[in-house]
Amino acid sequence: MKVVLGVSGGIAAYKACELLRLFTESGHEVRVVPTREALKFVGAPTWAALSGNPVSAEVWDDVHEVPHVRIGKQADLVVVAPATADVLARAAHGLAGDLLTNTLLTATCPVVFAPAMHTEMWQHPATRANVETLRERGAVVIDPAVGRLTGADTGPGRLPDPAEIFEVCLRVLRGRPRDLAGRKIVVSAGGTREAIDPVRYLGNRSSGRQGYALARTALARGAEVTLVAANVTLPDPAGAKVVRVESAYELREAVLAAAADADAVVMAAAVADFRPATRHDAKIKKTGGEPEPIFLAENPDILAELGALRREARATQTLSRGAAQPLADQEPDEAMPSLERGAYPEVIVGFAAETHDVLANGQAKLARKGCDLLVVNQVGEGLAFGTPDNAATVLVAGGDPVEVPFGPKEALADVVWDLVAARLP
Ligand code: CTP
Repeated sequence: MKVVLGVSGGIAAYKACELLRLFTESGHEVRVVPTREALKFVGAPTWAALSGNPVSAEVWDDVHEVPHVRIGKQADLVVVAPATADVLARAAHGLAGDLLTNTLLTATCPVVFAPAMHTEMWQHPATRANVETLRERGAVVIDPAVGRLTGADTGPGRLPDPAEIFEVCLRVLRGRPRDLAGRKIVVSAGGTREAIDPVRYLGNRSSGRQGYALARTALARGAEVTLVAANVTLPDPAGAKVVRVESAYELREAVLAAAADADAVVMAAAVADFRPATRHDAKIKKTGGEPEPIFLAENPDILAELGALRREARATQTLSRGAAQPLADQEPDEAMPSLERGAYPEVIVGFAAETHDVLANGQAKLARKGCDLLVVNQVGEGLAFGTPDNAATVLVAGGDPVEVPFGPKEALADVVWDLVAARLP
């Protein structure tokens, strides 16, 4: 495929070298089109050597080849990374003062922007409006990552990991549907840790790969994704709002807060069912005698709670529609965390890892937890945990199970989103 890599003048321009390498190593023909400002950060010889193609920021070089029209028209994909506030503004307004903006005006293929800038610039109304305009026209504008920026400040504005931008581009090139555009989705991923003392915890083997694959694929299908990550060390999926948590209680708080206005919640995290009943403030020491036993207390079941809250919210809605019901009966229980009235996840998805009687245990769990879909997989030696591949059965409330053959966790994620999208009004 022919890819145009537009690079604009931000400090993250050096990271585009890695993105370029990912494209060329996977057999794509890449033409790098930097802006004049980008060339102050990384010079033309670097781009030319890495891409094997000529490099210019100007429309005045090789004019006989009409580069200002030809490059854009021949491209299968244009990706601008990093995209500065300036280049987003020029693209949104159709300016054509250099080769990159000319290319953006002549390209008929999909266009991906990976913005990177200071938080203030990203949040400025002018930039917000330009991003909105570009998205309305069909461009994919990836939300920047949150983290350390140039200098000492941190906030939204970082260029996402090049490998994650690459994944977004591949999916755009493959032409996957953007059927989750405008949808708010919450995904929990990873495994919770329950503190025993300041240095020790009870944990599990979940790597977070399946949850991250779900987040990545939902983003590629156009969703706005909040990823609640429990102790995951993978790179953040490009465009996700990542909330980091450690324990089941922290995960519960983050998921319930994000679920309040979400269209769908997918609980892919391995949540500890139990926590040590007491957390020692100081490290537990050897005393030479019998070790102290660790007593456990049960954690809340977040998935079941989400199902119950939705049931309650729906019942309240039904009641308030019926004129005969006295208002006092409709007050939500104050002790329960409340999902906004009338706003609850339309689709709730659970995961279940089982070692035996996989389908029977799964069906019982689906009913018990009140979710719409339950992804069941068999775990044990070499299966599911920490591996890039997975096989599963998706149990569907009121429908037939869907078998997903062994394959990449992204493929399973796409099956889940197909089923979720079909259930969204
Ligand atoms: N889950 C949850 N809160 C918990 C435990 C689990 O939300 N305290 C969610 C998980 O994220 C997953 C689903 O429930 O989506 C199934 O988890 P699993 O541990 O298999 O279910 P359990 O109810 O703990 O059943 P089991 O008795 O098999 O452990």
